[in-house]
Amino acid sequence: MKIKPLLLINIHRLLTLQSPENGPRRGGSLSELGIVEDAAVLCVGGKIVSVGRSKDALRDPWLRKNRKKITEIDCDGRVVLPGFVDSHTHPVFAGPRLVDFEKRISGASYAEIAEAGGGIRSSIDGVRKASKSALTEKLLATLCDMAAHGTTTIEAKSGYGLDFASELKSLETIRQAAGRWPGTVVPTFLGAHTVPPEYRGRSRDYVEVICKEMMPAVAKRKLAQFADVFCDRSAFSAEESAIIFRAAAEYGLAVRAHMGQLSETRLEPLLRFKPASLDHMDYVNDADIPALAASNTVATFVPGANYFLGLSRYPDARRLIAAGVAVALATDYNPGSSPTLSMPMAMSLACTQMKMSPAEAIVAATINGAWALRLADRKGSGEVGKDADFVVFDVKDYREIPYWFGANHCVLAILNGMPNSAAK
Ligand code: NIG
Ligand code: FE
Repeated sequence: MKIKPLLLINIHRLLTLQSPENGPRRGGSLSELGIVEDAAVLCVGGKIVSVGRSKDALRDPWLRKNRKKITEIDCDGRVVLPGFVDSHTHPVFAGPRLVDFEKRISGASYAEIAEAGGGIRSSIDGVRKASKSALTEKLLATLCDMAAHGTTTIEAKSGYGLDFASELKSLETIRQAAGRWPGTVVPTFLGAHTVPPEYRGRSRDYVEVICKEMMPAVAKRKLAQFADVFCDRSAFSAEESAIIFRAAAEYGLAVRAHMGQLSETRLEPLLRFKPASLDHMDYVNDADIPALAASNTVATFVPGANYFLGLSRYPDARRLIAAGVAVALATDYNPGSSPTLSMPMAMSLACTQMKMSPAEAIVAATINGAWALRLADRKGSGEVGKDADFVVFDVKDYREIPYWFGANHCVLAILNGMPNSAAK
């Protein structure tokens, strides 16, 4: 498809997120937004070709000559920033889990619901029975809704099929929906989400199916870039997770994991596999923090899950940031623990519940999300040569993005150079 050149002009404040840093942001650099006032951005062929002041852009000879051929968007009085990179989502499911929701309101915990056969298992039936086309249409609607809230790149996991056919169907759904959405989708194979009912008490046998049957097929069809594991008390042990990570390395998949959501698991045995990210991180042992800080593994917080599960405890972001750990924020969009696709909501929770500053929340939701997906060379900041992913917020100050929680102030998303009319 031919993408028309695009000029965003008169931007009240542009957050470029430019930084000399050559790695995920940590410590003080988590607050550097690279703000340009009265800015302009020119995008050609889906890439950023210039970033600067509006008045300088208007003097550019190429621009003056070609102005008629360019789609021009006046961003007067608005804030523009790189599109959010939502680096942790589970968007392939058939429907909401309203029974779990009510049970929890009446006092049951996430773990108790899971042990009683609810939880992740109750989403399996829906995915196994659904047709690929029905799942694809639903996922495409979700992706459009995400763009409407300012997300231009997502990571999408399988993990509600949990048998060979349904995991592959979930990943094919992701591929098909991604092909019809102008944004960027990174697929992750999460066969190790939970032990499915037919393998109850035989988790090792299921791990073998993941490694010997599912993973080779996923790799052969290039259906995923990452393999993920839910490493926790009610899911897979560190030992089983290491077996899965070893298989992933063999099949050329990069790795990431759900860690420390319900209980503390030592990170060291898994850090050895150089995971792109370790996510949730509600429980982290002090002794693991130096090795985490010394690595390029990103700790991704998903406070939407803490909020929705009604937990008073949130990940200790300040402790990890103070130690020099690179942190990201994501929605964890899923029907069980975090049915929100709003990155501004995740950022608001990070500010109010985890004491991250609005600037840190923005960096964690953009460039560090890109690092968590190993896409930082293309995504997460407004720099020449990178993909043209920008979002326009109808606010005067970036701090309003996490401030106005529960409302959507994103008025336009540019995805790979294409303005998304679906943004409300
Ligand atoms: O990240 N923890 C595991 N996976 C999801 C929850 C999935 C579900 O409950 O359906 C999470 O919170
Ligand atoms: Fe998750």
